Order: sequence, then C-alpha cells, then structure tokens
Amino acid sequence: MDLSIRPRRLRGNESIRKLCRETRLSPDSLIYPIFVDETLTGTRPIPSLEGQLHYGLDSVGQAVEDCLAHGVGRCILFGLPEHKDATGSSAWDEHGVVQEAVRLIKRSYPDFYVITDVCMCEYTDHGHCGALCGHSVDNDATLELLAKTALSHARAGADMVAPSDMMDGRVAAIRARLDEHGFQNVPILSYSAKYASAFYGPFRAAAGSAPSFGDRKGYQMDPHNWKEALKECALDVEEGADLLMVKPALPYLDVIRECADAFRLPLCAYQVSGEYAMIKAAAREGLIDEHRVMCESAVSIFRAGANMLITYYAKELADAMRKGE
Ligand code: PBG
Ligand code: ZN
Repeated sequence: MDLSIRPRRLRGNESIRKLCRETRLSPDSLIYPIFVDETLTGTRPIPSLEGQLHYGLDSVGQAVEDCLAHGVGRCILFGLPEHKDATGSSAWDEHGVVQEAVRLIKRSYPDFYVITDVCMCEYTDHGHCGALCGHSVDNDATLELLAKTALSHARAGADMVAPSDMMDGRVAAIRARLDEHGFQNVPILSYSAKYASAFYGPFRAAAGSAPSFGDRKGYQMDPHNWKEALKECALDVEEGADLLMVKPALPYLDVIRECADAFRLPLCAYQVSGEYAMIKAAAREGLIDEHRVMCESAVSIFRAGANMLITYYAKELADAMRKGE
C-alpha cells in the first residue's frame, strides 16, 4: 500500500499517545463544590447527588481534608441557611452560613482557596435569584443585595466571589462595592453564560433552591443561543470580571469553544449536577464505565477550551489525572 501519511503511527503505544496529547489536565484546574448546611451537625448524604455530602459547620474541616487528600486545593461554597425570607437577608449576614464556613476554613487552612457562590436563590423564601417585583425578579434592586452579599463574603476571607444570579450589571456593582471597601484584590469569577437549563435539578434539590413558582428563563439564558453568550461575556469583561464561566459544560461545548476563542480571560466551565447525576445513574444501571466516562467528559470540556472546571468529580478526577488517565 502506498500510504505515506499514516495517523496511526502516533497511536502505536501508550508512550507515544501520551507524548502527542493535545490536552493535558491538572488537578490545579479543578474546583470542588461544597454544600454547607447551617442546621446540620456532622454530615449527611445528598440524596439527589450520589456520593456527595451536606456538611455542617462543625464538619467543613473534614470537607477540606478530603479535598487535600486527593490533591484538590480549591472549592466553591454553597450555603443552606436556617432562615429564608423575601429578600434573602441571610445571604449578606456577617454570621451567615457561608461567611462562617469561610472563616472556619481560612483559619485552619489558609492556603486552601475558597470561592463563594453569590446568589439569592438559596436564601429567598420564593427561591428566585433576586428580590421580586410582582412575579418577576427586580434586576436593579437585586444588584444592591448581591453587592452586599459579595462584600460580606470578602470580609469573611473569601479568596474569590462568583456571582451566579444572571442579573444585568452585577459584576460592575460587585466590583465597585469590593473596591470601596479595600477588596481590590478579590477576583470576580462571573457565571457569564449561564443557561436556563434542566440540568440543575439535582443541585436545586440539594440546595433547597428551586423556585416556588415559574422558572428562571427571565434571567438565565435561552439554550438556543450562542451569540448571546458572547454578548454576556463581553459585558462581564467591560464590567471588570476577572474570569468567565460557561454553565452547564458538556451540552454547551460549542459555547465554551466560542468564549475561549473570543476572550483573553481565564475560562471556567461548570459540569453541573445533572451532568454528574446522569453519569452516576447510567453507571448504576451497568450501562457505562463510570470512571472512563468521567475522564472523557472532563477531557472534552478542557479540549473545548475551558481552563478550569467546577465538578462534583473533582477528587476522583484529580486522582485520575495524576495517573495520566
Ligand atoms: C444558583 C446556582 C445554581 C447552580 C449553581 N449556582 C442553580 C440554579 O441556577 O438554579 C447549579 C449548579 C449545578 O446544577 O450543579 N444560582
Ligand atoms: Zn440563584
């Protein structure tokens, strides 16, 4: 056969395959979500997220120890407050669940990097991501609440804040508030292109943050759109975001690629609860190899252009990455 070009030459054995890899993964690019429940002592399995736990404030140290044991040095915190009300006032309480969790973690593990999710839905009694005006979320009134919340997280010692509400102008509002109070060096990771996705179901069950009426389509993005993702990212860049995010990840690889190519900021992807739960469920049914699907999904997200990944598989992935899987 006269074949001068044989791509298989570069696939002959594991050594050359690894040499020629275009995408290399590192545990340093992983962020693990931690759910802290103000009403809990100890830990409790999360029914909607097999293998994940709710942590009481007395147990957040254990969550961090587990991460460190797997070489994961970064987390994003979500809070389940004892008290909910119409505006979500527990969200900016200096002694709220996230603020206390941050203090506890940073006191014992100053080098463990703590990102906080900034949103109102876990704190409002109606479950929407901001203050209501009638049946819709009041964008401009919500900005003040988000700014207060982000500031309280920074005051508690958060290394980075990550607004996930999808209000217009929130990055600018948070940046201004942080700067006014001397937190110029706290970066903002904006959930820039966050879609109104059905893949958040298990998270909402875990965080008790499902809207009590309606949906989030009035503020989160329409899954049909990708140009709009570029617009959202461009606005966040202008407003002073330090990092951008696309969420969910696997169903939105095209959006990750677009945003990676268009912007010169680090790009984060969020492999959300439904993506994780689908892998778990299919594996439980014996339909797929959980470990290999976990690895392949993560590789796909990085290959598409993500620079970092928030995932419930962070610990298992870190182990796999060290083995070069
Ligand atoms: C809060 C928030 C959500 C997620 C992260 N932050 C839920 C939502 O927007 O309803 C989803 C994460 C996941 O599904 O794993 N706004
Ligand atoms: Zn929210």
